[in-house]
Amino acid sequence: MAEKEMTRSEVKRCRSGIEGLDEIIDGGIPEGNLVVLSGDPGSGKTVFCWQFIYSGATQFNQNGVYISLEEPEKTIVEGAREFGFDFQKLINSGKLKIITIELYDFERLKNMIEDTVKSIDAKRVIIDPGVIFRLFFDRELDARKRIVSLGKMLKSIGCTSIITNEISLGKASSLFGLEEYVADGVILLYHTKIKDRFVRSIAVLKMRNTKISEQLKPIKISGSGIKVLSKGEIF
Ligand SMILES: Nc1ncnc2c1ncn2[C@@H]1O[C@H](COP(=O)(O)OP(=O)(O)O)[C@@H](O)[C@H]1O
Ligand SMILES: [Mg+2]
Repeated sequence: MAEKEMTRSEVKRCRSGIEGLDEIIDGGIPEGNLVVLSGDPGSGKTVFCWQFIYSGATQFNQNGVYISLEEPEKTIVEGAREFGFDFQKLINSGKLKIITIELYDFERLKNMIEDTVKSIDAKRVIIDPGVIFRLFFDRELDARKRIVSLGKMLKSIGCTSIITNEISLGKASSLFGLEEYVADGVILLYHTKIKDRFVRSIAVLKMRNTKISEQLKPIKISGSGIKVLSKGEIF
């Protein structure tokens, strides 16, 4: 089924809630898109996801579903609180659901995600870490097919979704071809050593229907989350 191509100005945008990011992607992630967020350990993927979900529920009236692996809800709630994101309050008011998945049938997982999204009419979905999928499949091809079908399902129910992908320092590795085959957008977080210090930056490698900056932009993580210094340029 061919999707109707929309011009940039027609696209509805999902504001990220990450200060400075929306300015460099035409105002936000196109609604319903699936974005892969890649980066080294400690590069800020999880903080990014927390902020996306939290701002969605508190500023943009969009409920969220957060899918995690192994980490229990309590740990996530406590971690997010460090940045001032009160997840417990969102859970209590039906604006957020956290699902910790265990290893079982992938089709069941997919149905569970769909049911959970529908139960609170969520518009934002996070899967962190996306490496979850490596545990489900031995064969790369199986993994790719299933992830593609999960991505399509999320799109079809109108959610803007982010799946994180952990890469090892400097070595890009694709999440079973997700970036190439199903993702509408790819954002990379860098944590690069320059002389004697680490410098954090962000690059938007691809974003459907969006004019993107080719510059790496510096980012800052603080006690209130992550922000992009969109006027700044790095290197
Ligand atoms: N208050 C803070 N100020 C500055 N940096 C912080 C603060 N709290 C956490 N960090 C840093 O933010 C990063 C968070 O990374 P995280 O989102 O967990 O990375 P990932 O999910 O990509 O592995 C860590 O590098 C951590 O040191
Ligand atoms: Mg993480």
